[in-house]
Amino acid sequence: NTVMCVVGARPNFMKIAPIMAALEGSVPLSLVHTGQHYDTRMQTLFFQQLGIPEPDINLEVGSGSHSWQTAEIMQRFEPVVEAATPAAVLVVGDVNSTIACALVAAKRQIPLIHVEAGLRSFDRSMPEEINRILTDQLAQLLFTTERTARENLLREGVEERRIHFVGNVMIDSLLKHRSKAVAPREILLRSKGDAGVDACTSGYAVLTLHRPANVDDAPTLRSILSLLQQVSERIPVIFPVHPRTAAALERSGLHQVLEQMSGVLCMPPVGYLEMLGLMNKARLVLTDSGGMQEETTALGIPCITLRDNTERPITVEEGTNTVTGIVPERVLSVLEDILATGGKAGRIPELWDGRAALRIKEALLEWIR
Ligand code: UD1
Repeated sequence: NTVMCVVGARPNFMKIAPIMAALEGSVPLSLVHTGQHYDTRMQTLFFQQLGIPEPDINLEVGSGSHSWQTAEIMQRFEPVVEAATPAAVLVVGDVNSTIACALVAAKRQIPLIHVEAGLRSFDRSMPEEINRILTDQLAQLLFTTERTARENLLREGVEERRIHFVGNVMIDSLLKHRSKAVAPREILLRSKGDAGVDACTSGYAVLTLHRPANVDDAPTLRSILSLLQQVSERIPVIFPVHPRTAAALERSGLHQVLEQMSGVLCMPPVGYLEMLGLMNKARLVLTDSGGMQEETTALGIPCITLRDNTERPITVEEGTNTVTGIVPERVLSVLEDILATGGKAGRIPELWDGRAALRIKEALLEWIR
């Protein structure tokens, strides 16, 4: 009667940590890591900092095209499920590991639990949107982070009794670890020396960028860099560069353009506590990440989302987020507003209170019974 938890990529780790901690002792647990992310900076560090138990099994799938990666995870996950016959498989988020393991569970008729269900960008060109829709169709038990998710699920024919609004487990992690966040000074000193610290004394912005739509196409990436140049003339920008983005910059020769921008402080991807520290003290965050839109809302830090849409509308309606796309006029006008007034005030969304994993535990125990 084990609940088999699955992780694969960076944004999964801060979600699974509080769930496993809450279920520990009440339900037999196992952890499967697909190996979608494998670098020290993309995963090892997160296991350590978040106190996630050592995975029972690592499928070591690595990188490839979306279809290859999804298919390969399925092939490697099926014998694991077959041998262990878990009572349920629990997946989080919307990465390729999520849909791959969800499909295997469904085909083996193992009940599936999806945490962070029902989020929709309504943009099917986004790989995660496909993963979200399909995973929710396969799940028996769906845990949601905001109220719009229930409407989305009901519209897609999911039975109401399966949906539980529990809040946001990622915010459980944030609240638990906030006091241990690494000071920005420390991070700048480590990767940029005294000059880096000096550059940011009167405030800085944090940038992350990794969506295929933004980085894979060289002309788009070039126009984002020119926007970045303009932003960095107003405020220094700390930019931890995702491996996908690093590869795209290298491929297109644009890394040279970036290196010449004196107001942009590039560094390799940073750990969870480092990113928390950077966000917590930033004047603003610019990002195309899903999770960081929510984390900035929880921290009360203004966020500019460099996408045309968001699957997390509560961060715009109630939080500190503004969705601008990569249109320079829009980004720069929101930037000026933030620098002048501090940006949108925002409030903490309902049930983002650090107790989401406990609500999941209650619902899960009820469901197993
Ligand atoms: C994946 C998720 C995305 C999530 C992101 C966070 C999907 C469809 N996408 O995108 O939702 O926001 O993770 O990071 O699942 N690479 C490394 N080391 C690693 C992992 C990847 O160098 O440990 C490089 C490889 O060149 C790889 C590329 O990054 O091809 C992309 O990795 P991949 O797992 O395919 O997707 P992400 O862009 O990270």
